[in-house]
Amino acid sequence: MPSIPPQNQAQTPARLVVLVSGAGTNLQALIDATNNPDFGARIIAVGADRDGIEGLDRAERHGIDTFVLPVSDFPDRVDWDIALADQVAEHAPDLVVLAGFMKLTGPAFLALFGGRTVNTHPALSPSFPGMHGPRDALEYGVKVTGATLFVVDAGVDTGPIVAQVVVPVLPDDDESTLHERIKLSERQMLVDWVGRMAREGYTLDGRTITFGDS
Ligand code: GRF
Repeated sequence: MPSIPPQNQAQTPARLVVLVSGAGTNLQALIDATNNPDFGARIIAVGADRDGIEGLDRAERHGIDTFVLPVSDFPDRVDWDIALADQVAEHAPDLVVLAGFMKLTGPAFLALFGGRTVNTHPALSPSFPGMHGPRDALEYGVKVTGATLFVVDAGVDTGPIVAQVVVPVLPDDDESTLHERIKLSERQMLVDWVGRMAREGYTLDGRTITFGDS
């Protein structure tokens, strides 16, 4: 499935929509990166599934359009997913970045944005998918874990892998210290690889992502 066309190599900045649910430190890393015109992308809008979060405040402080779509405002997940797809589509993004967005996107969203939506997960896929990657890694006793940037598909953290970064688990770690250490590397990975996707363009063939012309 083709995504940002390689032949369009960033003559104009790619349009990003970023979806968040919480603190938004990954969003902040993207905001900081996109302040550099050479990054090759700009954030057109930030969306959330809940109000009152620091992620939305960060966007507003930087003058970025925001929208909020709580699942509880809709009769069911299907309607919410359709509304999310419509709202994101209004901003005509080249790439959608789920940055700590704690909801699964559904069929309506993927029909429009499949192949050009990435998510970051705080574990080394395919290990420890789901909401508690750092906790599950700690409980299992792994000595290294990390973060995974992947193209979103219909599964839970199962999509084609764009990049991974390895982070050590230290003897005294608890879930919080481990997650915070992962997030340091996760933010850098997100910025580095979203930047490449925007600047170089990419194509997706099955689980393989190829950058630029190939
Ligand atoms: C990140 O570790 C993300 O992978 C996970 O939740 C965290 C969000 O952090 N799903 P933030 O809101 O970007 O600070």
